[in-house]
Amino acid sequence: MANAAAPTPKANMGAPVPRYDARLKVTGEARYPADVPLANPAFAALVTSAIARGRIVQLDLDEARAIPGVLDILSQENTGELKPAKFGDGSSTSIQSLGPDIAQAGQIIAVVLADTFEAATEAAYRVKASYAVQAPSATFGSQGLTSQDATKVSQAHKQLPQAGDAEAAIGSADVVLDAEYGTPTQHHNPMELFSTTCVWAGDRLTVYEPSQFVYGLKSGVAERLGIAPEKVRVVSHYVGGAFGSKGTMTPRTALIALAAKRLNRPVKLVATRADGFTIATYRAETRHHIRLGARRDGKLVGYTHEGWEISSRPDPYVVAGVEDSAQLYAFGAVHTKVNVVQADRNTPGYMRSPPVVPYIFALESAMDEMAEKLSIDPIEFRRVNDTAVSPIGNRPYSSRSLMTCYDQAAAAFGWKERNAQPRSMRDGDWLIGFGCATAIYPTHVGPAAALVRLTPSGDVRLQIAAHEIGNGVYTVLGQMAAERLGVDVSSVTVEVGDTRLPPAPVAGGSNTTASSCSAVLKTCDAIRSKLFHAATTANDGPLAGRNADGLTLNDGKIVDADGAGESLADAFKRMGVSTIEEYSEFVPEGLKPDAVADLYAGKLSMVGGSHGPKVMYAMGAELVEVRVHALTCEIRVPRIVGAFAAGRLMNTRTVHSQYMGGMIWGISSALHEATEIDMRYARYVNDNLADYMVPVNADVADVQVILVPEVDRAVNPAGVKGLGELANVGTAAAVANAVYNATGKRIRQLPIRIEKLLQA
Ligand code: MOS
Repeated sequence: MANAAAPTPKANMGAPVPRYDARLKVTGEARYPADVPLANPAFAALVTSAIARGRIVQLDLDEARAIPGVLDILSQENTGELKPAKFGDGSSTSIQSLGPDIAQAGQIIAVVLADTFEAATEAAYRVKASYAVQAPSATFGSQGLTSQDATKVSQAHKQLPQAGDAEAAIGSADVVLDAEYGTPTQHHNPMELFSTTCVWAGDRLTVYEPSQFVYGLKSGVAERLGIAPEKVRVVSHYVGGAFGSKGTMTPRTALIALAAKRLNRPVKLVATRADGFTIATYRAETRHHIRLGARRDGKLVGYTHEGWEISSRPDPYVVAGVEDSAQLYAFGAVHTKVNVVQADRNTPGYMRSPPVVPYIFALESAMDEMAEKLSIDPIEFRRVNDTAVSPIGNRPYSSRSLMTCYDQAAAAFGWKERNAQPRSMRDGDWLIGFGCATAIYPTHVGPAAALVRLTPSGDVRLQIAAHEIGNGVYTVLGQMAAERLGVDVSSVTVEVGDTRLPPAPVAGGSNTTASSCSAVLKTCDAIRSKLFHAATTANDGPLAGRNADGLTLNDGKIVDADGAGESLADAFKRMGVSTIEEYSEFVPEGLKPDAVADLYAGKLSMVGGSHGPKVMYAMGAELVEVRVHALTCEIRVPRIVGAFAAGRLMNTRTVHSQYMGGMIWGISSALHEATEIDMRYARYVNDNLADYMVPVNADVADVQVILVPEVDRAVNPAGVKGLGELANVGTAAAVANAVYNATGKRIRQLPIRIEKLLQA
């Protein structure tokens, strides 16, 4: 599957090489998991709970069974052999049983299997459940919520950032800001629906499912089925959008595997768009109480941030974004606290730019409010509080280019034209506002392994179970191998997304390029060393007796600085081999040496971000112009400029796309997106793409991306900081801040909609 796109630019890292899979995708040749051809498949349809809390009293299946073509129906009666999944690791939710207890609306209670998709769907409608209903708690403001301190219930967040005496610092500050913010429920809504296809061959199971972590899914489903992980293969060559929703195992996978076993026939499920709102994860709604204390000259002296996050009853899922927000400025004293608020809801999960999106919206709104109180330009306010060390433990940043980002973005935007006085800039009936905010994303890196094979003609095969989630992983991994092995990127065949390949971490936390490129780099360098050693220690040949350290690979040749060299073909002949194949494991500093063994077992470990002796973040500055109609309060975003620094960039084309997509998603968070919840029934109301608002082209005008060069040798061998989740972090606050500048109205609860401005 060589890249057929022409012309092919040079393979150098950083080059805007077209996507390896671009042609395959636009011609429909790229095979997504639900596209796998099957012999004699059966089709599944889900039946989900109408209530959010209570018990199934009776499940009447007679009418459903009478539909022609129905083969089998899974319910609590015949799925008892499935082991319960544990929260965390490969399994994000403990709500896995089909009943009788109901913990959330939309919980799967039955799976109908039929010869056709239509019969399965029809029969699913005819399953009749009767319930003993209890009053559910829907969200903030509902009766019956329980709240717990995140440090008490979450293993991952046993300690949250604290520094000094924040109460005393704020008590003695010249100026204090005290404000509350909120963010809504959001659903990922990847274009590709949640599908699972299971095929058994004897006691071996193959699962075709779009996944951000094939090894996690493999071990998770094996555990639920009670079989050895070696018997399970997971294949996911392309993922049609995930954004976090396909990183953890959901209940459907083991159910479809069991169904295929019972029928002795492949089974395919493509869940409906509405099902996707309840059978997978989502971004939970949050609340925030922030206080900032500052001196008259703008220097911050204290920051307190208490967060509240909705979770499910059985699981304490929490993102606790204060771990990142607390690193951002020279705050002085810091106090943070996070509360897990448990309701009768499906368990939330990671959604693009967890955990910072909600927490940075709150902090960066507060920074803007404080700048105004101090009568300081908001960019200058951030400059006054810029820092090379984290206020939590005075640990240095591995690199930090925040103010460079602000300076470049401000120059491109024309920030100096801003009038700080709200409602002072106007174009006819349109009020104009400028706003800014900071984007940060922790740099994560995990263990990974890669297998690379080189032939004498310079063909490379690269295998690693990384995940193509639209991020361009085929392309950047191919570029890394091409660069290190001195061949054109079109000579590299890249295979990802299959548990037959060496493992890579979850495609989450923006770690993929850093982790997987580091593994590919290490493996290719092992091949280089072998070649260089053979060439320099040979008895004859143009490189015999030379220093291997001076050699390089270029255009299918081993070459020295003076131009002496030999072809790969000659080198292979001398070595008496027909291919060179290397496997190597990359384990980042700070992880235990056998971290790759854990990864094979589906267990994940990562380092970076706020943890460790150095703090590691990609950063950016986002500047937005909004126009708000003075009479109707219609809100427009005519332009947005983002400048970002994220270490070495593997491919400026894919990077540009990630940043652009991120900022557009940020506009979506600011103005459009929210999952509406019926408070009486704890059910999602707008579970479709007609009612769940996302921006269309008309909502997005001029999006400008500036790539700020940054060199960071501390983060990982590839020098790469994750950036896929960076750009939508600051956008919502930048828009809110611009709306304030335009109107004098401060909206502290996303999304910012016309009705909120009319009421404010
Ligand atoms: Mo990303 S939401 O960390 O998959």
